[in-house]
Amino acid sequence: MPQIEIEDISLVYDTPAGRVQGVAGANFSIEASEFVCLVGPSGCGKSTLLNIIAGFLAPSGGEIRIGGKPISGHGMDRGVVFQDFAQLFPWRTALGNVAFGLEMKGVAKAEREEIALEQLRLVKLEKFAHAYPHHLSGGMQQRVAIARALAYNPAVLLMDEPFAALDALTRDDMQKLLADVWRETRKTVVYVTHNVAEAVYLADRVIVMTPHPGTVKTQVPITLDRPRDPLSVAFLEHQKQLLRDLGQQHIAHETEPHDQVDHSINGRSKR
Ligand SMILES: Nc1ncnc2c1ncn2[C@@H]1O[C@H](COP(=O)(O)OP(=O)(O)O)[C@@H](O)[C@H]1O
Ligand SMILES: [Mg+2]
Repeated sequence: MPQIEIEDISLVYDTPAGRVQGVAGANFSIEASEFVCLVGPSGCGKSTLLNIIAGFLAPSGGEIRIGGKPISGHGMDRGVVFQDFAQLFPWRTALGNVAFGLEMKGVAKAEREEIALEQLRLVKLEKFAHAYPHHLSGGMQQRVAIARALAYNPAVLLMDEPFAALDALTRDDMQKLLADVWRETRKTVVYVTHNVAEAVYLADRVIVMTPHPGTVKTQVPITLDRPRDPLSVAFLEHQKQLLRDLGQQHIAHETEPHDQVDHSINGRSKR
């Protein structure tokens, strides 16, 4: 049985201006320890779908099961990381942020600080345990957010363009770090991105969505050995294939700007 089953998920936003389809009937499943990227043009419903999986939004139709059980709302079996640096608590240190979920779980102070430090070590930030978020760079804040999401040991890690607001070089470093973290923790990851190179670097499988109103267009396995070399021929071939999968949509939807999908592999030679 797959760990996450997404069955006919749809969502309609009711707004003062009318009804907006957020997701239009998505179906797929994810195995335990699999790294899955959700890719699609801006506005297709990636964030909506991730928020439904997180349990922050209730679908208008369909069902999501985790470990065979239908979800109802958010639970501690899922850790979430967003794009926004402001997701950390500004009044708590890095350690305090990472320990937060454990505090909610009622873990004793000494134990939760030990676990939090271990998570900070995993994202290479143990030296900054007592720093406040405003003293940390964007990349460091996102690493704290990852450590916080992992601290209470959720089975599933959900990430919505966590590195999209970072500069290209930092983003490359963060992708590498996340690949290491995943190799060590073997969490099931659902990772939203509109960057095709990022998806090929990180994913076991890429789920390509159609333009709005989004549903699953195709699923592409990425079979490259890790660590992956973004400059290798095989890597570029996978990237081209994904761009073709996405590009066909753009040809069919001439009104959509072509640069909604990030083609860049800038800074990759650094790795
Ligand atoms: N809170 C909201 N209220 C109304 N419409 C929304 C809301 N959030 C997203 N939408 C709409 O739902 C669609 C999917 O949005 P979103 O999930 O944010 O896409 P993506 O993350 O792929 O860019 C878009 O048409 C967007 O305008
Ligand atoms: Mg989004």
